[in-house]
Amino acid sequence: MMKVLLLWLPLLHRVDSLMYLAIIAPQDPTLLIGSSLTANCSVAADSSLRAEDLYWTLNGRRLPLEAYKVLSATTLSLTLSKLNGSQQQSGDNLVCHSKEGGILAGSCLYVGLPPEKPTNISCWSKNLKDLTCRWTPGTEGETYLHTNYTLKYKLRWYGRDNICREYHTAGPYTCHISKDLALFTPYEIWVEATNRLGVATSDVIMLDIVDVVTTDPPLDVHVNRVGDLEDQLSVRWSAPPALKDFLFQAKYQIQYRVEDSSEWKVVDNVGNQTSCRLAGLRPGTVYFVQVRCNPFGIYGSKKAGIWSTWSNPTAASTPRNGRTPGVCEPKSGEHNNTLRRELKQFFGWMRKHGSSYGCANLSIKMYDQWRVSLQKSHKTRNQVLSGDKS
Ligand SMILES: *[C@@H]1O[C@H](CO)[C@@H](O)[C@H](O)[C@H]1NC(C)=O
Ligand SMILES: *[C@@H]1O[C@H](CO)[C@@H](O)[C@H](O)[C@H]1NC(C)=O
Ligand SMILES: *[C@@H]1O[C@H](CO)[C@@H](O)[C@H](O)[C@H]1NC(C)=O
Ligand SMILES: *[C@@H]1O[C@H](CO)[C@@H](O)[C@H](O)[C@H]1NC(C)=O
Ligand SMILES: *[C@@H]1O[C@H](CO)[C@@H](O)[C@H](O)[C@H]1NC(C)=O
Ligand SMILES: *[C@@H]1O[C@H](CO)[C@@H](O)[C@H](O)[C@H]1NC(C)=O
Ligand SMILES: *[C@@H]1O[C@H](CO)[C@@H](O)[C@H](O)[C@H]1NC(C)=O
Repeated sequence: MMKVLLLWLPLLHRVDSLMYLAIIAPQDPTLLIGSSLTANCSVAADSSLRAEDLYWTLNGRRLPLEAYKVLSATTLSLTLSKLNGSQQQSGDNLVCHSKEGGILAGSCLYVGLPPEKPTNISCWSKNLKDLTCRWTPGTEGETYLHTNYTLKYKLRWYGRDNICREYHTAGPYTCHISKDLALFTPYEIWVEATNRLGVATSDVIMLDIVDVVTTDPPLDVHVNRVGDLEDQLSVRWSAPPALKDFLFQAKYQIQYRVEDSSEWKVVDNVGNQTSCRLAGLRPGTVYFVQVRCNPFGIYGSKKAGIWSTWSNPTAASTPRNGRTPGVCEPKSGEHNNTLRRELKQFFGWMRKHGSSYGCANLSIKMYDQWRVSLQKSHKTRNQVLSGDKS
């Protein structure tokens, strides 16, 4: 302990004496972009330092002599005009140096713009349990200064202002309210943007939580063949359970794509059924299918609900169109098929490449990876063949 103290004492002493060597005025100013700044570096009269020997740096770059003016034996001034926005939100470093390069004093310059009015506030409630809002930070956003966004809300008629506490929960410019929410009374919600140069307040939006409800994606999505109909697949699922105690209606959407395309096709007319048959599909083709849910009319709300996210993709393949006229279909046709063969290969591949993933991780992602590796190995084989020919 003693040793540490002894080591520190001389150091502290040096820092103390350094702090007396010079003063920058103004200290840590906040300025608008395009404005000018004149700053003084004044050294202590009893020091051996002379103003004419000093120099300035901004963010480590030495500033040119033309910008200096010796005001007296102890004061050197600096003039910067048409200031740019700060390079970092924590401010630019303006430093006054002795002839030998030592740091005599420092100041932070905050150069930027006042915040702009936040716009486009939208909110949603997951299962009536919470409220999350998102907004857009003014038309440009960039202020070059640290800007705080505060989401405030109150019950319309008799509430007092509340401040949302959990930010960035659903991406940038979002806030999450998880406690003490009332149903059937509209809330007023707005966002205040604050930085060193000012405050800007968004318009106030008004909403009732029962009008902005969303829920989890449907559960247990199963995709199956329809006998050996080669252009069809049946999809069924269960309603998300979280809302079952509330009075509401649900509608669903399905989207599906073939495995080698990223383009989803949406089936919009599913209504409130929990099953649907996809038709007009390509034979012998793997399809990925997702389902989402829209809970509407919560407690009689007249507003359209908000769609859940999509369920994780589920895959199945249509039967291959392999029937030749005049040849009997094998009885076990439905089992001795491409999918079965593919699945066998897939599981073999999984054992080789996926051992670190464990059983619970048998996902569509893995299946995708396997298809990609399969395509790659086909490609290499073809390249080798055509290379041989030439
Ligand atoms: C700089 O020093 C001069 C002369 O002492 C003084 O008139 C002026 O107000 C000072 N400027 C600032 C920004 O302190
Ligand atoms: C502002 O930026 C321009 C271009 O990067 C530069 O030439 C100019 O020196 C900067 N002005 C100041 C005051 O730093
Ligand atoms: C407004 O917000 C919605 C939903 O967050 C977003 O899709 C849209 O692009 C935003 N509009 C603007 C102009 O930022
Ligand atoms: C922004 O918020 C932080 C933390 O609440 C606070 O320390 C800081 O002073 C605020 N800045 C402005 C410009 O309001
Ligand atoms: C589905 O909608 C129909 C009419 O659109 C309605 O008669 C039926 O009760 C609804 N079923 C469920 C389970 O909500
Ligand atoms: C599957 O069918 C093909 C021809 O249709 C046949 O050659 C093969 O032996 C069958 N495999 C099994 C395991 O039944
Ligand atoms: C699934 O894999 C991910 C990494 O891809 C890993 O973080 C996670 O723990 C795994 N889960 C199980 C149940 O093995």
